[in-house]
Amino acid sequence: MDTTEEIADLKKRRNAIILAHNYERSEVQDIADFTGDSLELARKAATVDAEVIVFCGVYFMAETAAILNPGKTVLIPDATAGCPMADMIDAAQLRELKAAHPGAAAVCYVNSTAEVKAECDICVTSGNAERVMATFPKGREIIFVPDQHLGGHISSLLGTQYILWPGYCPTHARLTAQTIAKARAAHPNAVVMVHGECRKDVRDAADKVLSTGGMCKFARESTADEFLVGTETGILHRLEKENPSKRFIPVDTFLVCPNMKKITLEKVRDSLRDMQTQVSVDDAIAARARLAIERMLAI
Ligand code: 13P
Ligand code: SF4
Repeated sequence: MDTTEEIADLKKRRNAIILAHNYERSEVQDIADFTGDSLELARKAATVDAEVIVFCGVYFMAETAAILNPGKTVLIPDATAGCPMADMIDAAQLRELKAAHPGAAAVCYVNSTAEVKAECDICVTSGNAERVMATFPKGREIIFVPDQHLGGHISSLLGTQYILWPGYCPTHARLTAQTIAKARAAHPNAVVMVHGECRKDVRDAADKVLSTGGMCKFARESTADEFLVGTETGILHRLEKENPSKRFIPVDTFLVCPNMKKITLEKVRDSLRDMQTQVSVDDAIAARARLAIERMLAI
């Protein structure tokens, strides 16, 4: 049996489902039952009836699945696959910020730890941030953590000011407006899509600012046939697979999230075989974090 067959066999025996983020290695995306962005994966995790969820993504995503499924086993094939942005703020720092702004609503990007989510009123993803933030009344004081760029993007879309935390994604932060200009010059007919985690100069230089799921939808529905992609290069696999007649060009090939790439087929197999590593969240923290996630899912 090859590794893919071993995974299929173990999956059946364990009554498991495999979820994978759009940035995962191509071969991992190919063996997944469902591939999506953070919002789509959270929605899927909230409704699966399998007993075991193997989460191929970074830790906060697996943690979100575990919070939404207290009775199920959530496995992450490599527990060191973290998100540096999520670790840029901890619960104590957020509590301090909240104490400095009593009365402010606290919102966290889903790229945050369970402890931080537990301190928040609601959570957002890049796929629903505009819609969720628009539900707050104008003039309401709002703390937005940890991504200064996504927070800045939504604040300009809605014409509001947020109290931002200086967190950022080290992968997307490498992208510059100059890189976009160079890529545009080489591909003048391409539509430029970038992720909401990009810096302002990069977002301003793009045609579309989208979540990874938003990019897949836009590429599918657009009449354009050439796209410059300003996000982690793992997404190219799905874009190409779903749109064989269209051309997708990475704005630069250095946009790789090393944590997303830690998960390999062999680690998925081992994870199902050994039932490791199980993701668990303290019950009290999970109960509070679940409220923030469920409020988001209800919008
Ligand atoms: P998406 O929710 O758009 O897939 O983004 C997740 C992420 O970590 C982007 O860096
Ligand atoms: Fe975190 Fe950036 Fe990797 Fe997304 S791409 S998981 S935000 S480090």
